[in-house]
Amino acid sequence: TVLIIDFGSQVTQLIARRVREAGVYCEIVPYQSAAEGFRRIRPKAVILSGSPHSTVDIGSPRAPDEVFSAGIPVLGICYGEQTMCAQLGGKVEAGHHREFGRAFLEIEDDCALFDGVWARGTRHQVWMSHGDRVTAIPAGFKIVGTSTGAPFAAIADEARKFYALQFHPEVVHTPDGAKLLSNFVHHIAGLASGWTMAAYREQAVEAIRKQVGKGKVICALSGGVDSSVAALLIHEAVGDQLTCILVDHGLMRKDEAQSVVEMFRQHYNLPLILVDASDRFISALEGEADPETKRKTIGRLFIEVFEEEAKKLGGADFLAQGTLYPDVIESVSFSGGPSVTIKSHHNVGGLPERMNMKLVEPLRELFKDEVRALGKELGLPESFIGRHPFPGPGLAIRCPGGITREKLEILRQADAIYLDEIRKAGLYDAIWQAFAVLLPVQTVGVMGDGRTYEFVCALRAVTSVDGMTADFYHYDMNFLGAAATRIINEVKGINRVVYDVTSKPPGTIEWE
Ligand code: XMP
Repeated sequence: TVLIIDFGSQVTQLIARRVREAGVYCEIVPYQSAAEGFRRIRPKAVILSGSPHSTVDIGSPRAPDEVFSAGIPVLGICYGEQTMCAQLGGKVEAGHHREFGRAFLEIEDDCALFDGVWARGTRHQVWMSHGDRVTAIPAGFKIVGTSTGAPFAAIADEARKFYALQFHPEVVHTPDGAKLLSNFVHHIAGLASGWTMAAYREQAVEAIRKQVGKGKVICALSGGVDSSVAALLIHEAVGDQLTCILVDHGLMRKDEAQSVVEMFRQHYNLPLILVDASDRFISALEGEADPETKRKTIGRLFIEVFEEEAKKLGGADFLAQGTLYPDVIESVSFSGGPSVTIKSHHNVGGLPERMNMKLVEPLRELFKDEVRALGKELGLPESFIGRHPFPGPGLAIRCPGGITREKLEILRQADAIYLDEIRKAGLYDAIWQAFAVLLPVQTVGVMGDGRTYEFVCALRAVTSVDGMTADFYHYDMNFLGAAATRIINEVKGINRVVYDVTSKPPGTIEWE
């Protein structure tokens, strides 16, 4: 087992993901209980995560001392590097050297972490996100890589098997990062591969049968991959003891709800109810401009509607959810500990207590791309599995400023045209997620011989593997020009189109 100590980075669970991809079991433990976790798990290697903290601050988190005295390999990432240096006799300074996003690492020396991946004297893209930096390394360490903003971007003490990186190897924008983590667990820690997806379906079906028994299960279907895969797996396990409910909140894309229902009816024979609650949601949201209020209102109404529908069915014993591993890790990054809440994600939380139901969460162990692989196993059409993610709060969070029915309709039209152009250009699968945003800004234009004063539409497209980090998609300008022309010509209410070229971080994928 590899122990990952979580200091509250937004991407800690990606470290787990990469270790698991390398076929090695790992557990994430929050730093507050790291000493206890260390004793319980007795890990063969330890990875220290990043953090929003500064090691320079009094009381900032530290790794338990036994991590460094147990004679096992340790890898520090970002804050993990800094605390490692601070704890082993190096020096860290705050501020002034902020480095976010793409950076380049010069390989200065050989190092077991780089074996077969990076050779001395070469230069490689890495992803940085730090405010502080190391200014002196502890005795025994050597510099193995540098970047413009971080002279100690990669350091190693090969005798003790201590390694530390200022950049994030776990994110996909460090293209070779997974190989470095694989080197750490395989070559350096000597751990063998074992974990695979193959037997997961059978195991999960068995576990669901055991948990549910003869009970009744209801599932909130969103049309997304996660809830769909969860529903199919549970249906395979307990058949028509499962009923799915799809709540149309009026914030979906054009024809979305209908096409999801059709897909299910065409390919699967499972009980599915479509509820049109659009009026109720839109009435509650009209005029609302605050992103968090929008999210919370939608979450609350969703629970109300779902509860009413479930009552009509005579209640249920279990609620099925497509909860993924990133949502359940008992980790400071995700449980409102010292890490910052960026957005309140919409899910059906709160329902089980209110309705006295137990949860069935067959995807708890999986990450998004593992869920896609499972969906394929279960026979979901490729086109459905490959769909871009769509947020629970839907178009409401793509309509900054006060929501009106008119603006939602303008947005829905622009979005449909944009996606149509993407599909026609054969770009859909190359993009992780693409959508239009309707800005609460009007600008002057000239159409025909007249003056116009209409809204601005922003187009967004990003590449990502997990949604945790993202880069904007580099379109050909001709494509953007053509899409913009079509939107302005065909959508009344928009007279200007702009393209969003922000990566994540520092931006998020959605605008709210
Ligand atoms: P952000 O905007 O946080 O989004 O970079 C990361 C990914 O999550 C999606 N997203 C959501 N999905 N409920 C969801 O089911 C939500 O409330 C929600 N908010 C954002 C977003 O579309 C992107 O894929």
